[in-house]
Amino acid sequence: MLAALYHQVHVWALFAFLAPTLLTRQALSRSQKLLDTSQAYAERERAVIRLVEQIREERSDERRMIAADLHDEILQPIFKVSLMAQVLKADLVGGRLLEMDEDLPALVDAAELASKKIRDLIGDLRASAIGAGGLSEALRKMVQAMSAQTPIVLHSEIAEVQLSAASQLAMYQIAKEAIGNAIVHSSAKNVWVRLTAGPSDVLLQIGDDGRGFDPVEESPHHYGIPIMRERAAAAGGHLFLDSAPGKGCEVTVVMAS
Ligand SMILES: Nc1ncnc2c1ncn2[C@@H]1O[C@H](COP(=O)(O)OP(=O)(O)OP(=O)(O)O)[C@@H](O)[C@H]1O
Ligand SMILES: [Mg+2]
Repeated sequence: MLAALYHQVHVWALFAFLAPTLLTRQALSRSQKLLDTSQAYAERERAVIRLVEQIREERSDERRMIAADLHDEILQPIFKVSLMAQVLKADLVGGRLLEMDEDLPALVDAAELASKKIRDLIGDLRASAIGAGGLSEALRKMVQAMSAQTPIVLHSEIAEVQLSAASQLAMYQIAKEAIGNAIVHSSAKNVWVRLTAGPSDVLLQIGDDGRGFDPVEESPHHYGIPIMRERAAAAGGHLFLDSAPGKGCEVTVVMAS
């Protein structure tokens, strides 16, 4: 009986010794988990702030594009209206009623053309937030503008594509980040930008022949790539990033058309 008691006490003694250690370890692991979660939240919050900043910058780009479209598409027909009105006024002052009769239809035509151009522009702006010409034209303009800022040769093959306004905008924003990354990080000689239309989807590819990197490696406080992925997913598409040190980098986005 004594031996049995000793055995029991021994087991309880062992338990009494181990329990606090196990509990402390559990508490430590729980607090580590909490710490990890709060760090992940902070990281996420920084990503959201960064996204908001980026959207603000993109909006100002968008405004510049709208201004350019208004300038190119609308100003000229309006100018013609004003010109014809002045011609008519001169006809009236000079008492040239016959010429007036001829010039009046030209004024009406110019006014109708101006109103058609404005209607078209409104339609385009409603259809796509990236400008009247849609994704293809916006991409071409972007490649042209970026080429002027870098010694890297930018090659482009940009087809006309059919995509929803949201997908066009996402593709445009992703292209901007991917080309920007290639220019800033890759030390490449060439960057290729391709936009092609398949039977049921649209493919955007941005490739470079630069230094490449390991995409699996985490880059804390760098948000471009996670934001690209989020944008592709939010528009219902897929983004693939293929890179390795010394092998260049290729970003591919596929979206259903
Ligand atoms: N085309 C590329 N060639 C080589 N390295 C690249 C390329 N694209 C991305 N990287 C590497 O991946 C990292 C993360 O890119 P990411 O776009 O997420 O952040 P970032 O460009 O450094 O900063 P930002 O948050 O302003 O975009 C870069 O810092 C760079 O080291
Ligand atoms: Mg970046």
